[in-house]
Amino acid sequence: MIKSAIHARPAPTGRVAYVDGRYLPHAGASVHIEDRGLQFADSIYEVCAVLEGRLMDEEGHLDRLERSLGALQMRMPVARGPLRIVMREMIRRNRMRDGLLYLQVTRGAHRRDHPIPKFHRSTLIMTARSVNMAAVEKRRAEGIAVVTLPDIRWGRCDIKVTGLLPNIMAKSEARKLGAFEAWLVDRDRMVTEGTSTNAWIVTGEGVLVTRKLSHNILAGVTRLGVLAALAREGFNAIEERAFTVEEAYGAREAFVTSASGGVIPVVSVDGQIIGSGSPGPVTKRIHALYSEFARAAARG
Ligand code: PDD
Repeated sequence: MIKSAIHARPAPTGRVAYVDGRYLPHAGASVHIEDRGLQFADSIYEVCAVLEGRLMDEEGHLDRLERSLGALQMRMPVARGPLRIVMREMIRRNRMRDGLLYLQVTRGAHRRDHPIPKFHRSTLIMTARSVNMAAVEKRRAEGIAVVTLPDIRWGRCDIKVTGLLPNIMAKSEARKLGAFEAWLVDRDRMVTEGTSTNAWIVTGEGVLVTRKLSHNILAGVTRLGVLAALAREGFNAIEERAFTVEEAYGAREAFVTSASGGVIPVVSVDGQIIGSGSPGPVTKRIHALYSEFARAAARG
C-alpha cells in the first residue's frame, strides 16, 4: 500500500471531505492525477472562518470566488444556493465549532496540454479543519513579528489562485527568521501585503493605512469587513494607499487581517519594535468592531 504524507498523520476519525458531489472520509478523498489543479495550479480557492458553528463573511467569500472564476473563465460546478447548502453540510458533518472551511475549484481532469480546454467540467472540493482558538487568541493578545521580503509573485494577485509557491516560500523564510508572517515588498519598497494576510499600519498621526485594491494584492474579505465596520462607526481617518517599509518601522501600530485570524496585531517589523511593542488601542478597537460586525452578520 502506498502511504502518502497525509496518511502519516491521520485525520480525526469522522472527518469528512467533499469531492464533486460526494461526501467522503477525509483520509481517502482524492482527485484525478490529470486534474489541472494539480498539473498547472489551474484552480482557485477560498478559506472561510467558522466561529461557533457559523460561517463568517460568507457572502464576501462567495462574491470573491465568483470573481476569481470569472477572471479565469472557469465554470462553477454548482450554483450559489446549493453551494451554501454543501458548506453548511460540511460544518455539520465535521461537527465543527471553530475552524476553517476550505473550498477549491479546479478546471478538472484533462489530458495535459497547456491551452485552456474549450469545454471543461470543474472539480469542486471542500475540506473542514478545526482550529485551536486559544493559539489564535494568544497571537492576538501578544501580537506577532513580521519580516519584509521581496514580492516575487505574478501580476494578478487579485485572483485567489492556488499557485502559492512565492507565498509559501516567504512564509517559511519568515518562520525561519522567527517571525509569524512576511510582508511582501515591491520594487518601490512599498509593502503589498502579507503572504496570507492584508497589511495595515496606524501612522503617528493616527491615520489607518492599507494598500488600495489593484492587481497587486488580494481583496481580503476581512479587509472589506474591517472597512465596513469602521465606516459604520463614522471612522474616516483611513487612507487606502501603499506605504513604505520605513513608514511601517515608524508606525504607531500595525496589524494584519485574514479569515483565519481576523485582526492580529503586529508588534515588530524586521526586528524594529512597533509603538510600545505590544498590541495598541486602535488595533484592539478595530478587532472588537470587526468581530462584532462579522458575528452579527453571520447570525443574520
Ligand atoms: N489567505 N492576502 C493574501 C495573499 C491571502 O492569501 C489572504 C487570505 C489575504 C486575506 O484575505 P481574507 O481576509 O479574505 O482571508 C490577503 C487565506 C486565509 C489563506 O490562504 O489561508
